[in-house]
Amino acid sequence: MKIIMLGAPGAGKGTQAKKIAEKYQIPHISTGDILRENTRNGTELGKKAKGYMEQGLLVPDTLMIDLVVDRLQQKDCTKGYILDGFPRTIPQAESLDEALKELGQKIDVAISIEVPDENIIRRMSGRRACVSCGSTWHIIHNPSSREDICDICGEALMLREDDKPETVQKRLAVYHSQTHPLIQYYTDRNILKEIDGTKDMKDVFDNIIRILEV
Ligand code: AP5
Repeated sequence: MKIIMLGAPGAGKGTQAKKIAEKYQIPHISTGDILRENTRNGTELGKKAKGYMEQGLLVPDTLMIDLVVDRLQQKDCTKGYILDGFPRTIPQAESLDEALKELGQKIDVAISIEVPDENIIRRMSGRRACVSCGSTWHIIHNPSSREDICDICGEALMLREDDKPETVQKRLAVYHSQTHPLIQYYTDRNILKEIDGTKDMKDVFDNIIRILEV
């Protein structure tokens, strides 16, 4: 099963993608996680991406496309994968289609998690991310058992630099201008499914599974 997750920043793509990946035993490929790991490790890619990410801007397509196309050719992707945060622009989507065609593959479904902007701003201020393993929590909707400590690795939880309200506004503007056109792109290809992302996490998950198992 080859799945793309679409949706505004903070819509819940990562939360749902992890659960879907676990249920179907396929890799969860999050470009945001890959970039954050690279910035934490100070790699060349991380150094190039950091400034864009902190300003709420997209990292240039040229850096992103080869990274993802290489990842999709790794052995663990043969049974499928879930792409979270890629594609994010029409050129990324077109490059993905071309690369998949060469590999004799195609995306089965693009799931768009729909959440209005006003909910997003409230949600993001409550998200906490682990400084070490990158896992995410929410102070109300998905709290860790000890305040500001990661349940998975025991390290500190912080508000992500790009989750500050002014940067979230910028990310939403970038989403509407550069990423939202993908809704039409995948509608035209008859693989778009929209999900109400304002429901609680379990209901969103159950609704996604219902779509995947039709
Ligand atoms: P990325 O990490 O992909 O950020 P994003 O798309 O902005 O998405 P988020 O990770 O912020 O949110 P999410 O939808 O996964 O929500 P989550 O599940 O965490 O990218 C970061 C940056 O990297 C970009 O800005 C860009 O610079 C760069 N980048 C990445 N990919 C790129 C690409 N392809 N091209 C160019 N640049 C790229 O949920 C959010 C919070 O809400 C959590 O706290 C969660 O617990 C909570 N929550 C989730 N679901 C619910 C619910 N149903 N009800 C209540 N709370 C909920």
